[in-house]
Amino acid sequence: MEIVIIGSGNVAAVLGRKFKAAGHQIVQIISRNASTASALAYEWDTESANYMILLNKQADLYIIAVPDDAIGEIAKDLRLPGKIVAHTAGAVSKEVLKSVTDHYGVFYPLQSLRKETMNTPVTPLFFEGSDEITSKTLESLAHSISPGQVTRAGSEERMKLHVAAVVVSNFTNYMYTLAEAYCKKEGLDFRQLLPLIEETALRLKDHSPKEVQTGPAIRHDKETIQKHIALLKDHPSLKNLYLILTESIQENLKF
Ligand SMILES: NC(=O)c1ccc[n+]([C@@H]2O[C@H](COP(=O)([O-])OP(=O)(O)OC[C@H]3O[C@@H](n4cnc5c(N)ncnc54)[C@H](OP(=O)(O)O)[C@@H]3O)[C@@H](O)[C@H]2O)c1
Repeated sequence: MEIVIIGSGNVAAVLGRKFKAAGHQIVQIISRNASTASALAYEWDTESANYMILLNKQADLYIIAVPDDAIGEIAKDLRLPGKIVAHTAGAVSKEVLKSVTDHYGVFYPLQSLRKETMNTPVTPLFFEGSDEITSKTLESLAHSISPGQVTRAGSEERMKLHVAAVVVSNFTNYMYTLAEAYCKKEGLDFRQLLPLIEETALRLKDHSPKEVQTGPAIRHDKETIQKHIALLKDHPSLKNLYLILTESIQENLKF
């Protein structure tokens, strides 16, 4: 398939690499950021442009990988009659592209993608199209890069999934960030926690998270909790979260 990618950030880079590896041809990468676009164009041996007026209009499919709020801005001035156009956002309706073409849709990767990671992890893909031609094309593209990890999902289901994704990935990572800052300030090595982080995540392959909750909150170890809160007096953000999560665990989970 001949593909144009709009945007040159994390998703553009990772999907582009996967498309290339699956044998598709990226005929152009177009982005307001000339330097990241030309770096990816060099990597993929294709052409780049940084003004939408230079958009190649001969491709089969257009993937818009820009921040959620920018998709509408781009769609406003884009007209690609007869072409298939999809964005990659979990939380944006496909209808944002309705003025661009009759064949619009969403191609959402449910994974945390970073352009620096060359070996990309398993990436489940959720697609939807405005019509059967678009749906079938996006489904086949998805199968070509993520075989066995492809699901058709409407906007509501995708947005609900996106909320869960933010909780399990973005919020968890923010906790790691706070824990790392805490370790640094207290002269501890955050890396000593990596086996624990890994084991906690791996358990979910065989268990519901509810079944494997451990720690002072679920045990109602009041004295330990008080000692922890005292130790967190110079870490207000972490202390705040510690209190909220302890209360939530005690309210919602029974030991
Ligand atoms: N990263 C993920 O893990 C992930 C996973 C699933 C879905 N998504 C979705 O994929 C989309 C892209 O995310 P991303 O992580 O690739 O973002 P990103 O790394 O921040 O890249 C965004 C790209 O869009 C460009 N851009 C920013 N604002 C723009 C504007 N107003 N007009 C035109 N171009 C603009 C940026 O150019 P500059 O370099 O000049 O800023 C950059 O090339 C979002 O809808 C996001 O929700 C992301």
